[in-house]
Amino acid sequence: MNVSVVGAGTMGRGIGQVFAQAGHDVILIDINRNVLSSAESNIKESLSRLNRKGLLKESIESIIGRIKYSSSLEDIKNSKIIIEAVFEKIEIKKETLEIISKHADPQAIIGTNTSSISINTLSQYVNGKERFLGTHFFNPVPVMKLVEIITSERTDGKVVETIEKVMIEIGKDPVFSKDFPGFVSNRILMPLIREAILTFEQGVASAADIDKTFRLGMNHPMGPLELADFVGLDVCYDVLEVLYRDYGDPRFKPPITLKNMVTAGKLGRKSSEGFYTYR
Ligand code: CAA
Repeated sequence: MNVSVVGAGTMGRGIGQVFAQAGHDVILIDINRNVLSSAESNIKESLSRLNRKGLLKESIESIIGRIKYSSSLEDIKNSKIIIEAVFEKIEIKKETLEIISKHADPQAIIGTNTSSISINTLSQYVNGKERFLGTHFFNPVPVMKLVEIITSERTDGKVVETIEKVMIEIGKDPVFSKDFPGFVSNRILMPLIREAILTFEQGVASAADIDKTFRLGMNHPMGPLELADFVGLDVCYDVLEVLYRDYGDPRFKPPITLKNMVTAGKLGRKSSEGFYTYR
């Protein structure tokens, strides 16, 4: 099947990679050519890691050979599945979904990778609401098995069935969520991260000890502050803001420390500085 992934950032490149690994022809699209070339080298690196552990069914070259890189959204026209994975900003998603609607095959299924934006809201920008749904992947996409499938009030049941099958076929294990802010994952994860930040802010324990509590006490692979750095502190802040606004519940209120760090450009791993430094 021909699949397009629009947006070649951390999530988009991972999504493109897993489709190609499963034998699909992938077009990875981004308007920024630098992002495309960094996606290309990152995908090679990720495939090499998987290959070293004997996890690939075929050669790296044949998988890479199925991925085309493009900066033109018109190239989606032959795709049966289109996954939008651009920045988590509603105006950017709106603009992208409107252009996708213009060029997409009328039968194509359109999924959006979003961590917190309402699927019903985004469906307004898609021509053919019944073929649109949320497909929320987890970072690092080639490693994490989960995908959350989120439907709008108008998503066709057959589209959900098809996407479920496709997700299983590419090695994911889906869960289903209604379109409530944060779906299942971030509705529960973000208050944990928030509470960890408040615990740190109040000087109850060091960042290292807060994280160690979760790694050694609860067997989490990363503690909540390490995970916040990994996800991106800006992303955590944006998601908490959406949850706080939409539920109106103070348990989602973004902590002041988080706001200060984000506005100071401490975004976690991607800026080499967050609750920890990465150099
Ligand atoms: N591609 C391929 N393989 C990768 C990889 C990638 N991009 N990243 C990591 N790996 C593999 C490694 O090869 C290694 O495999 P083995 O265990 O089989 O040897 C394994 O993953 C572990 O890698 P590392 O040794 O480098 O590092 P680690 O042991 O610290 O694991 C991790 C890294 C997989 C990220 C792990 O720490 C982890 O699972 N952390 C939690 C991640 C998580 O919760 N992600 C979800 C975030 S929430 C989100 O994404 C949604 C949202 O809306 C905010």
